[in-house]
Amino acid sequence: MKKRVFSGVQPTGNIHIGNYLGALKQFVELQNEYECVYCIVDLHAITLPKDAEDLHKHILDVAALYLAVGLDPKKSVIFVQSDVPGHAELAWVLMCNSYTGELSRMTQFKDKSRGSESAPTGLFAYPVLMAADILLYDADIVPVGNDQKQHIELTRDIAIRVNNKYGENTFVVPDGRFLKEGARIMALDNPLVKMSKSAESDLSRISLLDDEAKIKKSIMKAETDSDGTIRYDMEKKPGISNLLNIYSVFSGTAIADLEAEYTGKGYGAFKKDLVEIVVGALSPIRERFEEIRYSKELEDILKDGAARADVIAKETMRRVKSHFGLGICK
Ligand code: TYM
Repeated sequence: MKKRVFSGVQPTGNIHIGNYLGALKQFVELQNEYECVYCIVDLHAITLPKDAEDLHKHILDVAALYLAVGLDPKKSVIFVQSDVPGHAELAWVLMCNSYTGELSRMTQFKDKSRGSESAPTGLFAYPVLMAADILLYDADIVPVGNDQKQHIELTRDIAIRVNNKYGENTFVVPDGRFLKEGARIMALDNPLVKMSKSAESDLSRISLLDDEAKIKKSIMKAETDSDGTIRYDMEKKPGISNLLNIYSVFSGTAIADLEAEYTGKGYGAFKKDLVEIVVGALSPIRERFEEIRYSKELEDILKDGAARADVIAKETMRRVKSHFGLGICK
């Protein structure tokens, strides 16, 4: 039997090249070898307040982007999290098997709740819902960016804890899959923080739907250093190193080869070439997005995906309920 892959993206708008190089690109590569389940995690998106109309739009945007980057609904199950009730149901069971101490240590929670004495309960329980997403599908492999490492570790801890208490075969213990080069793309205007959907400045990121002018502006204005040599050194030269990373993953050229190619050349020439590489990679994605975003096909794919996901989810919930002694209906 093929191993199963599960991952998800929040429908919060501004999906950027960090999301693509850290996660979406892996999603596409994995779909030929594994049984893949890819989710649009809308329940995670409401851990912070969202406008209903915007949320609905962003769900369909991410679905269209999934298809635009190359996910094939014949190979992969593509669906919206809240269309499958098992996610919320399993999250409760897992909440009863996780601890406030371990959740308080999650760096994303600390970042997002910083300064406020009382944070939304959903924000605190966010990683438990994420564990439920993964364990609901008996996923073996979870392709994500580095920022999700701690959440994957927590998922493994919860799975092992439940297995020890309720039977070894309650959950499959999953492994994270992190790419070497795309796993942590940094902000263009500040290479010391990761590129993010929510950063205020639009120039901090390149969104997958940016046009050529915006891509050019973001890259040409990207922060570098005054030393002027194109060399990878994340500690001393984080700006140019981040751009080398982006260049390398988009072009498939090793960083060492890029360093050799650009010896003696300035940042200006390097950035100009990088604009071309990124525009070349993103244009087909943008075109395909335009074709499918408003097609009837999109909703049909999501409905079909939810039905297929629900079959797996129901089977897992039957097993979990039986191991825990919950319910009386089979
Ligand atoms: P989200 O929506 O923030 O990000 C989607 C994916 O993009 C990766 N990513 C990055 N990779 C490289 N460089 C960056 N700057 C960068 N920023 C984001 C993320 O690591 C992620 O893989 N909690 C998840 C969504 C989720 C999930 C799941 C993922 C919910 N349930 C179950 C996997 C399995 C999140 O917030 O992703």
